[in-house]
Amino acid sequence: MSFTPFALEEWQSRHEQTVTHDLADSGCHPVGLGELLDDDPEAIQRLLATALHYPPVGGSDTLRGLIAAWHTAAPRNVLVTVGAAEANAITVASLVGPGDHVVVMEPGYRQVRGCALNAGADVDAFPLDPDRHWRPDLDALDRVVRPETKLIAITNPNNPVGTILTETEMEAIVAAADRVGAWILADEVYRGTELLTDHITPSFWSRYEKTVCVGSLSKAFGLPGLRLGWLVAPPALVDAAWRRHEYATISTGKLSMHLAETALAPATRDRLLTRNRTLIREGYTRLQRWIAASDGLLSIVPPEATALAFVRYHLDHTSLDVANALRARGNVLVSAGAHFGIENHLRITHGLKPDYLDVALGSIDRVLKELAKGT
Ligand SMILES: Cc1ncc(COP(=O)(O)O)c(C=O)c1O
Repeated sequence: MSFTPFALEEWQSRHEQTVTHDLADSGCHPVGLGELLDDDPEAIQRLLATALHYPPVGGSDTLRGLIAAWHTAAPRNVLVTVGAAEANAITVASLVGPGDHVVVMEPGYRQVRGCALNAGADVDAFPLDPDRHWRPDLDALDRVVRPETKLIAITNPNNPVGTILTETEMEAIVAAADRVGAWILADEVYRGTELLTDHITPSFWSRYEKTVCVGSLSKAFGLPGLRLGWLVAPPALVDAAWRRHEYATISTGKLSMHLAETALAPATRDRLLTRNRTLIREGYTRLQRWIAASDGLLSIVPPEATALAFVRYHLDHTSLDVANALRARGNVLVSAGAHFGIENHLRITHGLKPDYLDVALGSIDRVLKELAKGT
């Protein structure tokens, strides 16, 4: 049976430990344990007193309740997973089989695409259009959705381009799914990373009954090392995914679940969102300045959210060649446009400490100018 590897994650796992500056990870500078606990002695004591037995397999009642509140759902709609990565994988495993048709948004984080291909499905993409500020091409969506379409997968806000869907665009996606009875998989890991507003991107939850929303602590909350994510779905699909979860991982870690309860408690949640938005807004301002000083070598359609910039370079090289040169000559890892299904772009993470970001952007600049000169 043929197997499609997850090229982006393979790129990161092969190279991220080999460079001095990693701008390929897709979140913010991570939150430290002391920072998460706000150095509160009682919280530290509670953590130290945690008994390390198996946690509740689908997530503690408290945590399921906190996640439900983030999506305005009910606790029975929630399954806690090992990151959004597991949530996406077991959702596809529950819904998609050989011969099914799946539609994905591109450019995009290609996990659902790869899982669907590996399940034997046919996959078509509908584009976010670079000539229209990366708005979704809804006519193209209508053209690719057909009676066999089992699943339409979108990421909102989008990785890598940072588009936030409008209400009208969300309604059009729901209408396209409803027309053929397809499921919607809405990967919402970047909710809470808005650049221009403090208004949290609306969830797809409760717009349409065949919806699965996926989230995690890795992006807006700055806690990727906890490996804690979730899916929110109708109870029958939660059950189906839970059966796959038992095979794949049994549960996430006990400490991760404990710390997730802290992270999503309203006061901490707001503190973390503010911390990470501050990093993202400062990082994007620096990145914008850097692009403006590139003498036309680089350009960008401004993103609306995420800690990511999908930067267009005006050079005659493939994105993998450029990313490899940056790695080998500049000691900086970025992701290549090819990892997201589109050439002539690099995905550069900017939600990082300003000094770290500035040094890395300086190295990228030097290598790009060498490439432009043909040296
Ligand atoms: C859109 C999207 N979904 C899911 C994931 C996986 O995230 P997690 O760390 O929660 O497994 C990522 C990670 O980059 C992502 O960008």
